[in-house]
Amino acid sequence: MDYEVIKKPESKEIKPAPNLGDYEKARREVKWVDVATDLDWFGDGKINIAYEAVDRHIHSHRKNKLAFVWEGKDGTIEKYSFYELSRASNKFANVLLTLGVEKGDRVFIFLERVPELFISALGTLKIGAIIGPLFSAFGPDAVKDRLLDSGSKVLITSPQLKSKIEDILEDLPDLERIVIVNRDGEEVELGDKGVNYEEEMTEASEDFDIVKTDKDDYAIMHYTSGTTGKPKGVVHAHEAVVGHYATSKYVLDLQENDIYWCTADPGWVTGTSYGMFGPWSNGVTQIIYEGGFNAKKWYHIIENYRVTVWYTAPTAIRMLMKFGDELPKKFDMRSLRYACSVGEPLNPEAVIWGETAIGIPFHDNWWQTETGCQMIANYPVQDIKPGSMGRPFPGIYPAILDDSYKELPPGSEGHLALKAGWPSMFRTYWNKEDMYNSRFQDGWYITGDKAKMDEDGYFWFVGRADDVINTAGHLVGPFEVESSLIEHPAVAEAGVIGKPDPIVMEVIKAFVSLKEGYTPSDELKHDIQKFVKKKLSSAAYPREIEFLDSLPKTRSGKIMRRLLKARELGLPEGDTSTLEE
Ligand code: PRX
Repeated sequence: MDYEVIKKPESKEIKPAPNLGDYEKARREVKWVDVATDLDWFGDGKINIAYEAVDRHIHSHRKNKLAFVWEGKDGTIEKYSFYELSRASNKFANVLLTLGVEKGDRVFIFLERVPELFISALGTLKIGAIIGPLFSAFGPDAVKDRLLDSGSKVLITSPQLKSKIEDILEDLPDLERIVIVNRDGEEVELGDKGVNYEEEMTEASEDFDIVKTDKDDYAIMHYTSGTTGKPKGVVHAHEAVVGHYATSKYVLDLQENDIYWCTADPGWVTGTSYGMFGPWSNGVTQIIYEGGFNAKKWYHIIENYRVTVWYTAPTAIRMLMKFGDELPKKFDMRSLRYACSVGEPLNPEAVIWGETAIGIPFHDNWWQTETGCQMIANYPVQDIKPGSMGRPFPGIYPAILDDSYKELPPGSEGHLALKAGWPSMFRTYWNKEDMYNSRFQDGWYITGDKAKMDEDGYFWFVGRADDVINTAGHLVGPFEVESSLIEHPAVAEAGVIGKPDPIVMEVIKAFVSLKEGYTPSDELKHDIQKFVKKKLSSAAYPREIEFLDSLPKTRSGKIMRRLLKARELGLPEGDTSTLEE
């Protein structure tokens, strides 16, 4: 079904006037080098994300402006001005120095979404070390894989999360120190590597000279899943802040008086690019809510803090839709002037629902962990074609390519690629340079997504070119889940696919064959699910398990996920010539 275009408002009707007034002109004329001059830089190509995000404001009228208002799950509220955030992160930078952390070292953060997460991330960047924020929902195996691969020297965590990963801590030869953030003042066993965050912070100086990192020095790592192997560490450099800044200004349209709320966790790239560096480099006040999804609470946050710009995700929007149109009407949502969405395809109904239920449509945008910032987007001054990801960000050149990497004309389906070389493009996969290089062809970065572009230059998502599963915006590699499944004592073989779902896009479904002596039962299913959930993460366990006597394999023994998926969805099985007899 075709959906009507949502016409852009007359320019004079858009209040306040959007930062991007003339999209076509910006696309014709914009140059990244010019955009970069909006930031402060230290000279000689030196730039530090933490300085651009926070410290530069303390020399301006924004010194005492709120950087964020944090609301805890228990209702506690804490507020930090840019000045206070600068001082606190200076202290943490000094703490890290006393622990022997140096420029280039990896410091991973496994914390709930509390103020210390943001303070320690900024402090780490200030000394030129590399941050690796991890989802607090991760289980021990997911944490271990990431700490081992990155060779993380320091882990910042809480007593509750530390107890979850106690068993793996001995297996991490590079890990020298564990900083424990003890907000509740519990009795904690520090052990020989443990350091008490609160004690160290009390003693640390508030003064710190930010390390003048080079624009190409590594700053941020996020792990992302691929079809094969363990998750890969996507590495971004300090220059990425140019992309965070520009897109927050022109896609999210952030302006001086905005109250901005990004619902993403910093364990995910959206939570760092647009939950820290983008809005803060624009000097904008953020709301940070520690809790997860809750329809009433979310509307209440918008009403209570007078949120003006809201960045969220399709699964969350679809869950809000399930709660109905009446619920938002019970709240005062009039402060909202702009809303965006990312992470999965945003169905046209969800775009339109925004208009009818909360008064403004959702503006979809597309990007990836690897791209570091938004690449394709809908803008306040452009018509929205519901279901489309929008048009290229000025300075970004996407195209649709065929299998030999030649550009296809409008209307054709193919590989979504981007002309390589923008400030926040990832710089490597940690320790996997070959894999990094394999993502580039003839000057194009191949995204791994399939898409098409229409005659008006709008891009439409078609699907992934690989087996990676997108469940509620989390990319999950089938290999990771399969590896975890076969560690269960009853499981002989496992094949994992994404099964379409109306709310979360895809649910993880596992096909499992059992070892001799085990028989299928619901009880065993639950046990296997619990096992994977505990080891990997609550986002990555299979919601559905089906027992099979054996799994379809190629003659070389590879499980044919494609066939499992085709059979599950009742689609043609395609070429089965390599199928084992
Ligand atoms: O498949 C695309 C999907 O999510 C992938 C990127 O996921 P990740 O690296 O975790 O980055 C998250 C930050 C955006 C993409 O390759 N995706 C993301 N946004 C959209 C999308 N699919 C369709 N429409 C989108 N707007």
